Amino acid sequence: MKIIGLTGGIASGKSLVANWFIDAGFPLIEADSVYKRLATPGGSLYQKLLDFVPPYCIDGNKQIDWHKLGQVVFTDNDFRVRLNQLTHPAVEKAVKIEIEQFRNAGEKYVVLSVPLLFESGTDKLCDITICVFVDQEVQTRRLMLRDQIPGEYAKLKIAAQMSLEEKRKLADYTIDNSGSVKETKKQFKMVLDALRSE
Ligand SMILES: Nc1ncnc2c1ncn2[C@@H]1O[C@H](COP(=O)(O)OP(=O)(O)O)[C@@H](O)[C@H]1O
Ligand SMILES: [Mg+2]
Repeated sequence: MKIIGLTGGIASGKSLVANWFIDAGFPLIEADSVYKRLATPGGSLYQKLLDFVPPYCIDGNKQIDWHKLGQVVFTDNDFRVRLNQLTHPAVEKAVKIEIEQFRNAGEKYVVLSVPLLFESGTDKLCDITICVFVDQEVQTRRLMLRDQIPGEYAKLKIAAQMSLEEKRKLADYTIDNSGSVKETKKQFKMVLDALRSE
């Protein structure tokens, strides 16, 4: 089974491309979804997070308020590093279990969508890596629109990540999502053909 690592920056179009992989019949594991699942009651990270995050990031139902936690994460570098140290091992462990389930089911491929693929070293698990990138202006605009946040905050979030310039150099395949969805789809199809003939 080939593991395809899909990455990009915030609002660069990872979900857009991930959905096309699903349409093409590829199983998908999203690191963010795994993380959110582990952080709900019953998940291995739930209690650890309740103990770790500032109390105002926990809502009345004792659930993580992701919006409020995001504001801390993106304004406090030290907190972000420590939070990642707490959560990454658990997410990686759960992702590896899901990978094995797909392998046992006889799948030929699995797509692993991980925003911090290179930063966290998860790329080492992958046979092939793909980076979906956009130029920073487009990225800022799409992030503001999608999350309904001001430009200053959008820029802060973007600045907290490895630049897309760097990420795309590390990836085996790149998809430029700065243009229309149609143009991106065309590139996706080319990558898909290349993957299938590898
Ligand atoms: N080529 C495109 N043209 C216009 N809007 C786009 C395009 N690609 C993505 N978007 C929009 O930009 C936002 C970010 O895309 P998304 O796939 O959610 O990014 P990610 O998963 O990387 O954070 C979404 O609101 C999406 O609908
Ligand atoms: Mg997404």
